Amino acid sequence: MTAKVRKAVFPAAGLGTRFLPATKASPKEMLPIVDKPLIQYAAEEAVAAGVTDLIFIIGRTKRAIADHFDKAYELEVELEKYKKSRMLELVRNILPSNVSCIYIRQADPLGLGHAVLCARAAVGNEPFAVLLADDLIDGAGDGCLAQMVKVYEERQASVLAIETVPPEETQRYGIVETALVAPRLGRIKSIVEKPSPEKAPSNRAVVGRYILTPAIFDLLEHVGRGAGGEIQLTDGIARLLGREPVYAYEFEGRRYDCGSKIGYLQATVEYAMKHPELHKDFSAYLQQLKV
Ligand code: G1P
Repeated sequence: MTAKVRKAVFPAAGLGTRFLPATKASPKEMLPIVDKPLIQYAAEEAVAAGVTDLIFIIGRTKRAIADHFDKAYELEVELEKYKKSRMLELVRNILPSNVSCIYIRQADPLGLGHAVLCARAAVGNEPFAVLLADDLIDGAGDGCLAQMVKVYEERQASVLAIETVPPEETQRYGIVETALVAPRLGRIKSIVEKPSPEKAPSNRAVVGRYILTPAIFDLLEHVGRGAGGEIQLTDGIARLLGREPVYAYEFEGRRYDCGSKIGYLQATVEYAMKHPELHKDFSAYLQQLKV
């Protein structure tokens, strides 16, 4: 088994119903936070963690993401003509040159487990990361995934990022039961997808960052449909627990649930407050709102 996590999978074929009509022709992963789409924040987090191969699982609105990471000839020509060199640099350097992208079509949105399974041939027999771009994470150090890669390298086992959520919100997440093995790190004893608060084994929720060993693929082939009638990644991980240790890592940083309107707005406000060109004017604007 290679010790290095070189590949990352970005499931982006969901219907994005919570943001319709904004997501009618473009995926929710393309929604911007200030001036960058969510998918770019996730790609940058993966690159900062040492990932060089980005595997996008795309759906109905397939072109937007591929176009975003591709060369934009006409735009570059125009920017050059008007000597907009800073903008030109921005659109040219979306990703470093050593990073390559693969796009895989998930024709039917059968669930997150199915999306990950679509990446099987591209991942092969090595550990890989999964990043759900609608969980935007402002992580300490080089980011949440870089923190997890350190754990992976020490333990040579799958790692899931978790955070504690209000008990009444367990129904929105994969929930884990863990035994603490080190500060911020637990070995997962059980995992269940979207349990009601009464049935949840804890209120420790999986957020959208995973490092998985390739053993997950065979298991996902056979899990069948779970919660919500979908092939759930959580159900594959539940089976993986019987074969290998799987760890839950309490990441350092803040997560914004950009799959919900309120989380998306919070991220927008907080990233604008931190934006080098905006923070002064935007803070002044918020002050005078007097909300
Ligand atoms: C997915 C996973 C869930 C996880 C969540 C994190 O759910 O199925 O286990 O807790 O992402 O954001 P979704 O948000 O796609 O319903």
